[in-house]
Amino acid sequence: MTDRIAVIGSNMIDLVTYVDRMPNRGETLEAPDFMQGFGGKGANQAVAAARLGARVAMVSCVGDDTFGEATLKNLADHGVDVRHVRRVEGVASGVAPIFVEPDGENSILIVKGANAHLSPDDIDAAAETLKGCDAILLQLEVPLETVYHAVAFGARHGIQTILNPAPADRELDLSRLDGLDWFCPNETELALLSDMPTDTDDAVLEAARSLIGRGIRNVIVTLGGRGARLVTAEDVHQIAPVAVDPVDTTGAGDAFIGSFARFLSGGASPRDALARAAVYAADSITRRGTQAAYANAEAFDAFCKARGLG
Ligand code: RIB
Ligand code: NA
Repeated sequence: MTDRIAVIGSNMIDLVTYVDRMPNRGETLEAPDFMQGFGGKGANQAVAAARLGARVAMVSCVGDDTFGEATLKNLADHGVDVRHVRRVEGVASGVAPIFVEPDGENSILIVKGANAHLSPDDIDAAAETLKGCDAILLQLEVPLETVYHAVAFGARHGIQTILNPAPADRELDLSRLDGLDWFCPNETELALLSDMPTDTDDAVLEAARSLIGRGIRNVIVTLGGRGARLVTAEDVHQIAPVAVDPVDTTGAGDAFIGSFARFLSGGASPRDALARAAVYAADSITRRGTQAAYANAEAFDAFCKARGLG
């Protein structure tokens, strides 16, 4: 393990409005607060891993606007290798209008912008960097062809691949994920992709099992307040939930995946990496924003100690 992780994925600028309630159609409603932050599922996962000390490279696209410039600077400030972040001329950066309700739950719109331009060629151009990584992290805010190409690249070169199929996309062709090591949906994404219900614990397991063998080795299902499950051909392992008072749940899934990859590439066992990732994600929902809410290694240790966790 070299502690090196690559993220092949998206960047967005998050436009987060904190609302008392969502407006109705045709209604104008005042909201108490707003913040702009760095987001995008790819960049979020990259920043979580980097904050925890991993050496992270990103393969992604930004637009040729001030959002793109700011995104590059933000990644570089986190020590992320941005040599393979491409600026696409004449195209806007990705943005995500987000609404957070008083209970911390979020609703997100994404406008992909430059992220829609990330192509298999971008992966090939980054091949040498990728070959030096322990793991490749993927999500679905970039074209599916690019995701398939990345999974095949990882399988060919013995690099672990982790796919978070978010946002859920019915078009995802599971038969093109041959050799994928870790498939990490939440329960909604799992239901959509397996075409099976996921409303009970047993249903979740059945749906997860239906994916194994179809080219996928390990399924990690995140269940929000109910923790997570690691499902393999041989067994099921439960990851306990970590109770906190939610302030803003946006990006908690990314905190989970990015930190899982970091702990795994740091040499932790998968079960241990998952237990710690659940704690890291829980901590992130106690603060506003996505990347803005991610702890560094020191703050994370303090959070674990304060709660009597390893
Ligand atoms: O997972 C949270 C992220 O989804 C936000 O940062 C937003 O940019 C969207 O990509
Ligand atoms: Na948060």
